[in-house]
Amino acid sequence: MINPVSPMPRELLVLGIETSCDETAAALVVRGIDGRGRILSNVVRSQLDQHRAYGGVVPEIAARAHLEILDKMIAQAFRQTSLTLDSIDALAATAGPGLIGGLLVGLVTAKAISLARGLPLIAINHLEAHALTPGLTDNMKPPYLLLLVSGGHTQVLAVEGVGKFHRLGTTLDDALGEAFDKTAKLLGLGYPGGPEVEKQAKTGDPKRFALPRPMLGRPDANFSFAGLKTAVRHAAQKLGTLAAVDVADLCASFQAAAGDSVADRLRVAMALYEERMGPTAKRVLVVSGGVAANAALRQSLQAMTGMQGYQLVIPPINLCTDNAAMIAWAGAERLALGHTDGLDFAARPRWPLDEVSAPLLGSGRLGAKA
Ligand code: KG4
Ligand code: ZN
Repeated sequence: MINPVSPMPRELLVLGIETSCDETAAALVVRGIDGRGRILSNVVRSQLDQHRAYGGVVPEIAARAHLEILDKMIAQAFRQTSLTLDSIDALAATAGPGLIGGLLVGLVTAKAISLARGLPLIAINHLEAHALTPGLTDNMKPPYLLLLVSGGHTQVLAVEGVGKFHRLGTTLDDALGEAFDKTAKLLGLGYPGGPEVEKQAKTGDPKRFALPRPMLGRPDANFSFAGLKTAVRHAAQKLGTLAAVDVADLCASFQAAAGDSVADRLRVAMALYEERMGPTAKRVLVVSGGVAANAALRQSLQAMTGMQGYQLVIPPINLCTDNAAMIAWAGAERLALGHTDGLDFAARPRWPLDEVSAPLLGSGRLGAKA
């Protein structure tokens, strides 16, 4: 819904709510008249302990856990400031993509407050919130190239403006974080697997196992990690019992292969981005999502962007992983443009950022997964 009258520039204070996966989060963010953002409070409660025994996120457990603490998290976000519901201009809640139970908890809570207080509601695409985060953290506004690497998503997009995205590449199978998690699982490491694999890789030999570099040299900018994970499985099976050094070497070899693949795919994505944006394309690469925490990946991206003449922007890691400050900020950016949503807005478990490009994965009844 776009308000018919273009709003006068003014300071905007937005409450953000995030419940799309296994983090329950609330935050208060201000967007100044100059378009700069400031976080007033930002509280996150991870449900990791509730899911760990299952080796992954259990949707029903997640939804119930969100329901039990979301109101307390919102109260805490306000308590950390001197503000109350009377002071805010709007509510922004993640409406997708994500697990439907959790999405409903967050969105319905936001709708209820919106209705009770007569405040505008802004339904946020979680991926757009990741994509716009550098505006909040680094005052970096579109256009730029975005690599989103989390447990659920791996895609590279041209971010052309608020609500304007063009997908340049996406994974054809597993997300990168998912590949880290599955690799960790098959090597008997804990959950979530990314940090465990990284820890093991530190003492391992990245050259011991000649693992494939998926998609290397392909002219499109798509990703694939399922084959790499399977190659790790085969290498592990060949060894039989795994000594600690084997696990470390497998992790280091996996991480090196994944890093090489990402760097190669990004080189192609940069060419596609420059082709699309023209010769004056702003050469900035933003990286977001939980896998951005991986130091080896950051290092290889630093080297690669330097060579390609790009500036690399990675928001602080607590704002790369799921949080509500990014949801509030995306809400403030939309509100500044006059966008709000109706109380009839339905949660969308699948909600691609670029709805024009044909889905490459999960194009069933629910719509594109990636
Ligand atoms: O963005 P995020 O917190 O949640 C969503 O998936 O939305 O990302 C979590 C993912 C998990 O797959 C986790 O294993 C991965 O990010 N991850 C890492 C590291 N830290 C988290 N992967 C590799 N290296 C890390 N240090
Ligand atoms: Zn996320």
